[in-house]
Amino acid sequence: MFIFSGIQPSGNLHIGNYIGAVAQWLELQKKVRSSNKDELLFCIVDLHAITVPQDPKVLKRRSFETAVFYLAAGLDPRVSKIFIQSENPDHTYLAWIFDCVTPFSWLRKMTQFKDKSERQKEKTSVGLFNYPALMAADILLYDTDLVPVGDDQKQHVELTRNIAERFNKRFGNIFRLPRALIKKERARIMSLQDPLHKMSKSDPRDDSRINLLDRKDIIKKKIMKAVTDSGNEIVYDSKRKPAISNLLNIYSSLSGETIGDLEKRYKGKGYGEFKKDLAEVIIEKIVPLQSRYKELLKEEKYVRKVLDEGREFAVSKSSTKIREVREAMGLIRS
Ligand code: AQP
Repeated sequence: MFIFSGIQPSGNLHIGNYIGAVAQWLELQKKVRSSNKDELLFCIVDLHAITVPQDPKVLKRRSFETAVFYLAAGLDPRVSKIFIQSENPDHTYLAWIFDCVTPFSWLRKMTQFKDKSERQKEKTSVGLFNYPALMAADILLYDTDLVPVGDDQKQHVELTRNIAERFNKRFGNIFRLPRALIKKERARIMSLQDPLHKMSKSDPRDDSRINLLDRKDIIKKKIMKAVTDSGNEIVYDSKRKPAISNLLNIYSSLSGETIGDLEKRYKGKGYGEFKKDLAEVIIEKIVPLQSRYKELLKEEKYVRKVLDEGREFAVSKSSTKIREVREAMGLIRS
């Protein structure tokens, strides 16, 4: 089984990224460690980040910091290879090929494009439109079986399968069909200020999310300020009580307790007590990660070595796939 996933270095990582993506990666790593059969590859997708404007100096720093986060969260480079997307040009090569086989109408339907282009208005880049073709290339280059992601990426992984099928039909059986691995109960963590929208790095309101680097007092403040629903019962009902359901989801994902158990524990108690405890649960989870992060940030040489080894591993796999693609499409002299 080959497992691939990534995060854009487009801002401060938040607990949505942690719960939706990284926590799943760590579970898979645990399984792989004991089975020794599967391969794990995690990417810092900087080429996706530049589909919206980025300051070059900030992007460079964030790409490195995202790698440090992966390691601080618990990815072990002996089991999980880590690399920076732009350091393997095979991704953009295959993305162009996919641009040429993917119908325009497929990309036009992508929800993320619709959302982000609405915010970018006339500044919307062609790259933002083509983003899913690049994501398909990221995944299909490595004969990936499983893509652990948050619910928001489901549509892109489905499109990836469609692109692979279309290509295979025209040029032969070159690509394996991947599937998304999405934990239903933690699929989507919502904004603390607007529970109908997902928690996002690019939301200008910092109090809409808990960043993985937030100080304890800031975490407490943001949770206490998080919007709640009318009434004061702590019950899960994503339609009628989206705000408290989101907080219960965060609590359950980070503590491992079921939502049912939490509902029982907080029966008859108010939002204030629940929120105070939730802030502690978050702090308990992310403070150790922050300490490892600060330590690893000083180990630049070590992190660079991890990324170099990750890139070598990635290129060794993807170059074979690119050769197959070129031959299948007539892009090579026989
Ligand atoms: N709110 C979320 N809940 C659960 N999972 C989430 N992910 C992101 N937000 C949530 C998952 O994190 C991984 C990395 O996402 P990404 O950075 O590549 O892109 P994104 O989904 O567009 O994340 P953001 O935070 O919203 O970034 P911006 O604002 O820059 O676009 C993915 O697996 C994603 O599902």
